[in-house]
Amino acid sequence: MRRATNGGARFSRKHFLRMGGTGLAGAALLGSGALAGCGGGGAEGDDIVFSWGPDDTGVLPDLIKTFNNQSNGFKVRYREMPSDTGEYFDQLRTQFQAGASDIDVIGGDVIWPAQFAGNGYIADLSDRFTDSDQFLPGPMEAMRFEDGIFGVPWYTDAGLLYYRKDLLEKAGFSDPPETWEELIEQATKTQQDEGLPFGFVFQGGEYEGGVCNGLEYIWTHGGDVLDPNDPSRVIVESPESVAGLTTQRAMIEDRATTQAVLQYQEDESHGTFVRGDSVFLRNWPYVYALLSNPEESQIKPDQVGVASLPVQGGQSASALGGWNFFVNAASEKQDQAWEFIRWMTEPAQLKKNALEGSRLPVRRALYEDQEILDNVPVARLGKDVIIQNSRPRPVSPIYSDVSLEMAEKFNASLSGDMSPESAVATLQEDLSSLVRQAEEAAG
Ligand code: GLC
Repeated sequence: MRRATNGGARFSRKHFLRMGGTGLAGAALLGSGALAGCGGGGAEGDDIVFSWGPDDTGVLPDLIKTFNNQSNGFKVRYREMPSDTGEYFDQLRTQFQAGASDIDVIGGDVIWPAQFAGNGYIADLSDRFTDSDQFLPGPMEAMRFEDGIFGVPWYTDAGLLYYRKDLLEKAGFSDPPETWEELIEQATKTQQDEGLPFGFVFQGGEYEGGVCNGLEYIWTHGGDVLDPNDPSRVIVESPESVAGLTTQRAMIEDRATTQAVLQYQEDESHGTFVRGDSVFLRNWPYVYALLSNPEESQIKPDQVGVASLPVQGGQSASALGGWNFFVNAASEKQDQAWEFIRWMTEPAQLKKNALEGSRLPVRRALYEDQEILDNVPVARLGKDVIIQNSRPRPVSPIYSDVSLEMAEKFNASLSGDMSPESAVATLQEDLSSLVRQAEEAAG
């Protein structure tokens, strides 16, 4: 999805979520029964409402049109939601907390299931979703909550390093960097040789994408935020996390990039790269599709290489992203919702999404599909990155609150407002108190 800037919404969002409590608290109030029947003017008859952000590639509107031209007995209406995943989440959460949402099928972020399922907002699909073993394990894992499966993966995302193959060669570098230090060296030299405004761009803004970037620095230096085996243990205060944020800050200090990245989301960073203004870019697989479109990009696919993210002491790690289908637990059109989801996740539709949108398929078999492998290089690389390197963000029913804290501290450390040491120490304290509150609220 395209990203928009957060504008002034950030403070009130944070305030709202704090006020809104821990997420667990509402669970008892809002079982599916409580929501059923308060449809609030949803789609008429058997039609269903499907929500997602704006799709620049045009693949989604095309697919919906094709689906609606079949004789399914109902139509799908596309409701466009904000491109910023945090803003989209807040809108849904407000609707659910108010007691109803008229959206039947939600195109939602991989980080949402624990929170939405924990509150009873989305339906357990395990009885209907019988071929889940055909899907990639990472994205599938993210759909599980307690004993249920609460979503069907649609496409998956992993943080990748895009680089200007042509310019690196000219500058005398035969391979992309393996460590962050090498990245700084290659970025600054090539940028100077070519007189470019940036060596490296990424998502440094205070929002969810900034969280993904900050986590990647922490992970590739051997640190973590919550204990993956026990998410109630906060472990962010460590020399490894400090080293990770120090390296990220060095991108600005060593002039591989500029202060501008402090506001960058996906759009701004890919825009800089496709204009030819930067040697390196950290972004998701969709950027590859833009390179073949002369209206979007001034550089061509053959000038660009794609690699795993560098490391420094830890293992290569990319944030696991991706989008999925969830069903509103209160929707009275569960059958229609499922029929649409099943169609959207058939191999043919996932293949179109890969070929035209360079979105990584979630069905394992498609990684053997020669047409995809030949035409979508990020799928060739993505398979390895996703299976070996991609790591989920902390899985927690209070993830949105955890994320706001990380977004704030990572951005403050990147800007130099806080030292990496105090950023991780403050984060340790703030996250510990969030976890405590959530435990108390859950009783
Ligand atoms: C991408 C990822 C999503 C992530 C978002 C952050 O859309 O797929 O998981 O939360 O970027 O901006």
